[in-house]
Amino acid sequence: MNKRITVNGEPFVLYLSEKKIHERVKQLGRKLNKDYKGKVPIFIGVLNGSFIFFADLIREITIDCEVDFFKLSSYGDAKISSGDVRLLKDLNCEVTGRDIVIVEDIVDSGLSIDFIKKLILQQNPKSFAVVTLLYKKDAIKIPSPIEYIGFKIPSDFVIGYGLDYAQKVRNLRAVYTLEK
Ligand code: IMP
Ligand code: MG
Repeated sequence: MNKRITVNGEPFVLYLSEKKIHERVKQLGRKLNKDYKGKVPIFIGVLNGSFIFFADLIREITIDCEVDFFKLSSYGDAKISSGDVRLLKDLNCEVTGRDIVIVEDIVDSGLSIDFIKKLILQQNPKSFAVVTLLYKKDAIKIPSPIEYIGFKIPSDFVIGYGLDYAQKVRNLRAVYTLEK
């Protein structure tokens, strides 16, 4: 695995290795299996960023579950959130009376999660929780409780493992951060 890479002419360094991510994903899976034992939660992935985390996490789930996806847009091609959250694809499932677990790649400003939470709560789920691989602890504009956090990270721009830079490098196996 490369320690340093260049993306769009900018230098990035390895931040979370594939091994470190997988160990944490396994732990999160174990916790979810325990907390949702006897229930049939719907895991809802937020596209595009969460697709790799989602695929890895869902294979750690051993209880009965269902899956669905939202597609949101807020970033465009920039490194800073536009703050303008739009729903590009809605759910297909019925949320009312169900245990909902939102799966996010990263919580940055918290605007996306706030948007999703309002949308879901309108439909009266039985329960609502969020699992995110990454949480930028200094960037939160809208504090919303996040029940399951993979890694708390500084507010720097990160890429890989689903996270893009101008739509590219989502396919990197590890998470890289902008070199200072
Ligand atoms: P929010 O600012 O919490 O609404 O985050 C919105 C979305 O922006 C996240 O779900 C990610 O898909 C994306 N995002 C936030 N921070 C980064 C980053 O550092 N790199 C790539 N995408 C990011
Ligand atoms: Mg996302």
